[in-house]
Amino acid sequence: MHVDLEDLGVDRGGALIVKRALRLAGQAEEVTVAGSHPDLATHLRAWCRATGNRFEWVDNSSGRYARIAAGSSEVQRWSGAERAGSADPHEAQAVLERPSRRWGLAGRGALIEAGSPEFHFPLNRKADVWSPDAVRMYAQAAAAQWDPATAVPWDAKFDLPAEVEDAVVQIMTYLIENETAALIVPSRFLAQMHPHFREVMQVLAVQAADEARHIEVFTRRALLRRRELGLSTAGGQESLHTLVNEPDFAIASFLLSVLGEGTFLSLLWFLERYAPDPVTAAVCRLAAQDEARHVAFGMSHLREHLQAEPSLRETLINAVRRRHEALRHTAGLNAEVFDSLVLLAAGSWDAADIRRGQDAVTALLQEMDASRKGRIRKLGFNDVDAEEMSALHTRNFM
Ligand SMILES: [Fe+2]
Ligand SMILES: [Fe+2]
Repeated sequence: MHVDLEDLGVDRGGALIVKRALRLAGQAEEVTVAGSHPDLATHLRAWCRATGNRFEWVDNSSGRYARIAAGSSEVQRWSGAERAGSADPHEAQAVLERPSRRWGLAGRGALIEAGSPEFHFPLNRKADVWSPDAVRMYAQAAAAQWDPATAVPWDAKFDLPAEVEDAVVQIMTYLIENETAALIVPSRFLAQMHPHFREVMQVLAVQAADEARHIEVFTRRALLRRRELGLSTAGGQESLHTLVNEPDFAIASFLLSVLGEGTFLSLLWFLERYAPDPVTAAVCRLAAQDEARHVAFGMSHLREHLQAEPSLRETLINAVRRRHEALRHTAGLNAEVFDSLVLLAAGSWDAADIRRGQDAVTALLQEMDASRKGRIRKLGFNDVDAEEMSALHTRNFM
């Protein structure tokens, strides 16, 4: 193979052309390089020494050119390289059970040079995190992102009685701290996950972005007519404390996504239905639509995990019992939030309306319980377990 660099310097891109010629020629064939650049011989000699290729300068009646033969160092460099699964998750063996720590941050499917450093990702077992639905769920979540500035009718005209506005502010205050827990939990596990499980990592990242928007719109609704937020109670924070501190991914997902966010779905749709103004209705509807995806992903990877590891069933039941025990002395849902829910559903202080509001909240609690049991059963638990776990779920809802 012969290349003519013309007047191109080796240091100005000529090396790239020589490198390509060596690659195309393979180890068996020699490459001759000619050119009119005054430093061609000097520069090519230095380049060959640095890259481990054999160099010989010819200057006779046949012409002035270099003879270069590919050295073995480039071949050796990649001889210990390893293919990190496959980028396409639909391919068989694309996602491995135990990806190497040395694959680190490389994209799944990359060819990884030997000698890369080891990364510490505690969540490095496929059975613990993977769901084949993650691919589709990430795409759906990315497509469903909404802009808080335009998706909510912030300028809508409405005028609420002071006590109804107070009730909305109190509920928003409660929602904000719960959304904050829902942001922190997936973010923490996201940082512990082996990037080999790319699609799961992406699902959790979008989930965190969803929660960031929920925090924004609930805060904005609370401050729309008031200068301050409402009350945050010790009992509420204690319930979230047990959630945020749960170190196990499966347990945290079950408590947060299946039980907590599942219960919040009922709450948010209730708030959307009884919202006294269009802004409250919109922020609750938008959040509920996102939450449905969070619940679906939690269900999906836990179903896979439970199938691969049936003993997880007992671990989850015990986790619910332990959390209930830890929260036994707390008040559960704060009275201010409960009363605010009744007032919103009632719409006025009229005794007959308050009775209807109270009935609506009672029906909400029953619906939350029924939905929780349904989800627990869908994960393969029997009726007795579902009954117990739903009953022991935190009275703070999340
Ligand atoms: Fe949320
Ligand atoms: Fe969520």
